[in-house]
Amino acid sequence: MSQKMWGGRFGDGPDDIMEEINASIGFDKQLAHQDVAGSMAHCQMLMDTGILSQEDGKAILNGLNQIEKEISDGTFTFSRALEDIHMNIEARLSDIIGPAGGRLHTARSRNDQVATDFKLYIRDTIDHLHQQIQNLQTILAQTALNHAETLMPGFTHLQIAQPVSYGHHLLAYVEMLERDIGRLQDARARLNQSPLGAAALAGTSFPIDRHQTAKTLGFDKPTDNSIDSVSDRDFVLETLSAGAICMTHLSRLAEEIVVFASSPFGFFILPDAFSTGSSIMPQKRNPDAAELIRAKTGNLIGHLTALLVVMKGLPLAYSKDMQEDKKGTFEALDNLSLCLAAMSGMMQVMEINAEAMASRAQEGFSTATDLADWLVRVGNVPFREAHHITGQIVQLAETKACRLDELSLESMQEVDTRITADIFDVLSINSSVASRTSHGGTAPENVKAAAQLWLEKLNKA
Ligand code: ARG
Repeated sequence: MSQKMWGGRFGDGPDDIMEEINASIGFDKQLAHQDVAGSMAHCQMLMDTGILSQEDGKAILNGLNQIEKEISDGTFTFSRALEDIHMNIEARLSDIIGPAGGRLHTARSRNDQVATDFKLYIRDTIDHLHQQIQNLQTILAQTALNHAETLMPGFTHLQIAQPVSYGHHLLAYVEMLERDIGRLQDARARLNQSPLGAAALAGTSFPIDRHQTAKTLGFDKPTDNSIDSVSDRDFVLETLSAGAICMTHLSRLAEEIVVFASSPFGFFILPDAFSTGSSIMPQKRNPDAAELIRAKTGNLIGHLTALLVVMKGLPLAYSKDMQEDKKGTFEALDNLSLCLAAMSGMMQVMEINAEAMASRAQEGFSTATDLADWLVRVGNVPFREAHHITGQIVQLAETKACRLDELSLESMQEVDTRITADIFDVLSINSSVASRTSHGGTAPENVKAAAQLWLEKLNKA
């Protein structure tokens, strides 16, 4: 007879290739702590409901405690022949305490066990990511406060559009990251129901107390449908989706770091600690960390897509396909965590060339909108007409190869006689930015207030 735990009806053991394709221990050993926690909660419940004797239950709990220590100190031996983390731990339990170890699996299945372990893992990961995102937000908000009055060109189509405060630009990322936290929290709230006790798919005839195990493991309640409990991987998909969006945000900031640190821009001075040199060009300083964040975004999106594809064809309830949910997810979420750490490290020490930023902010006739707005406000010109007049003045400046505020009053009056000397008040980038006091606008006073609000909020969190 096969020596496998499920080998009762099998004559021979599996082919070596079968063992290789079937085993998940290589990656699901990452669920070891969650698996022990789930087993302890299950064992205690079996004792409290009288399904398991106190004597056997205590022996199991002692054995699990020892296993937990072995896992923590790295002495636990994982075996591929034992397939997965659940059977590795159960086998070790029986090694330690003898046949009573075989009673732990009463009224549960690996199907509800793995769903429980994975939910616990994802929940811990969300909590960790939450903290990391808040750390990055704090760095960005603090920098925004320091740079509320630092001006840079704001871009649309990567063309100089209107001058903005650098602090304002950074706070845009703080907003994006806040939505990321919101999405992760939504996923966390929805996943926090315990599948444990759904057993293989149909529930169990033993008088288990699923509310007890749910409570012990910090879940809000047990799940309500045993079939759904073992076939649901929405919680992974939601977390990966939220993670992929967050990574996309990091990737956009990374792209800006690459662009802003390039010599034609020269806005950012890459910190030594987060850049590399070239093996051939001694003058080079490369934004490798930013580039890798940008690239690793593909990894997250890829793993999200892979799991969607794994799940889309599965009938209820559990299929072994679902074992493929873990490896990519671990890698994806580890990547996100690493990228959050790298981005935080980079932005914490990023130096800027404020002069280069301000001087580029004056290019591209960036205060043309201010000129048009002035015509509307002071000259009572309809905006469309003001837009047209401004276009002609921009053309004039273009032919004279000068900035708008370098044009003479006379030359502007040749385009439209309603223009007076007051126009110069609105043509500088400082006045342009200072005037944008509308809610959410880029005026430094707004930016300071917003950055302060964020820092207060983040301090309390
Ligand atoms: N290693 C499996 C997984 O990760 C555990 C569940 C196996 N259940 C089963 N009936 N074969 O999905």
